[in-house]
Formats: sequence, C-alpha cells, structure tokens
Amino acid sequence: MKFFVDTADVAAIAELNELGIIDGVTTNPSLILKSGRDITEVTREICAIVDGPVSAEVVALDAPAMIEEGRKLAQIAPNITIKLPLTWEGLKACKALSSEGHMINVTLCFSANQALLAAKAGASFISPFIGRLDDINLDGMELIQDIRTIYDNYDFSTEILAASIRTVNHVTEAARIGADVMTAPPEVIHKLAQHPLTDKGLDAFMKDWEKTGQNIV
Ligand code: G3P
Repeated sequence: MKFFVDTADVAAIAELNELGIIDGVTTNPSLILKSGRDITEVTREICAIVDGPVSAEVVALDAPAMIEEGRKLAQIAPNITIKLPLTWEGLKACKALSSEGHMINVTLCFSANQALLAAKAGASFISPFIGRLDDINLDGMELIQDIRTIYDNYDFSTEILAASIRTVNHVTEAARIGADVMTAPPEVIHKLAQHPLTDKGLDAFMKDWEKTGQNIV
C-alpha cells in the first residue's frame, strides 16, 4: 500500500519523507488555507521534497477553467497530480487533461458509480472520502470495497486512494480491502507506530537493563 500524507505542512512532510515511508502528498484548498502559504510556492517546495505524486487541486467549477488551472498547476513540477472534483465538469476536465498526459486525482468521491465514471474518464487516482461518509452514519469502508470489486472486475488501472482517513483503524481496513493508496494527516501516520504494550515492554526492558549495570557502547 502506498502512503500519501494529506497536508501542506512542509516541515511535517519533510520529517515523514526522511523516514522513507511517504510515496506522495495530497493537498486541497482547506489544507492550503491551514498552511497560510501561497499555493504555488508551497506546492513547489513539497514537490522538491517528495519524489512521488503531489496532488494540487483546482478551484474553478467549469471544465474550461479547470483545464486552464490544471495546466498551470502542472507547470509547478513534473510530479504534480491535478486534483479535480467529481462533478460532470470535473469529469470533462479529467478526460481532457489525462489525454494530455497529466496525472489526475479525482476527489470528493462518495459513490461507486462516481468512481466508475472517473476511471472511464482516465483518472490516475480516485479519492473516496471515508471519514466524511462515516460522519453521516454511512460506511466509508463499504465504498472502498465496492470500488475495489468494480475496478478489479474490469481491470481499470485507476488507483484507489482512500482519503479522509481519520483513524488508524481506517488505515488497517483500507489496507485489508486492498486500496492501492491511503492518504492521512501526519498525526494519523505517527499514531500507526504506537501501541501501549510496546511502551510497557520497553519500560520493563529499560528497568532490567539498568539493573545489569552494563553499557553497549
Ligand atoms: O484530501 C482530502 C481529504 O483527505 C479530506 O479529509 O478529514 O477533511 O474529510 P477530511
């Protein structure tokens, strides 16, 4: 499973990238706002840190303007993935920009039929939003499972990018189902390493080691 980090916080991205566990980055207008940075500047910095795809989202609502914005964003760096919303206009822009050879991440996906359309329109990634479905008492993981089944039935090459991941259990479940990629905030990725029995066991080892009076170096 590929790990993308869902943030425009350059320091957090650099720290995770150092560990070698990050395969890409996703941003959106809300994350750009949170960063307090200029979209072009911060996206360029992120693209220089991470080798993999970096999603940058358009904000236009009609296809011609989305295409124009997408082409502009793609000029920032070769690893830009243009992020487009799953609307009819977004699908038109997806078809046009993917035909030009750009990587496309179709975002704000909440149904299997939307995912089917995105694949047919040439999306490189489809982003089903798990947490936002769970927020309204629907089952985000059921959607990931449905898309996995449908894409496998027809050998679509569009990668399933599990997004709106809020918990470590979301990561486990998405991996179990076979999502190709997950994108999560840095805090969730850090939590993947935590376990109380690890802390407890380490504490006991440290206490016993102290009693030996030995040093390794
Ligand atoms: O990349 C967008 C997505 O991950 C948003 O997550 O938590 O705002 O629903 P969230």
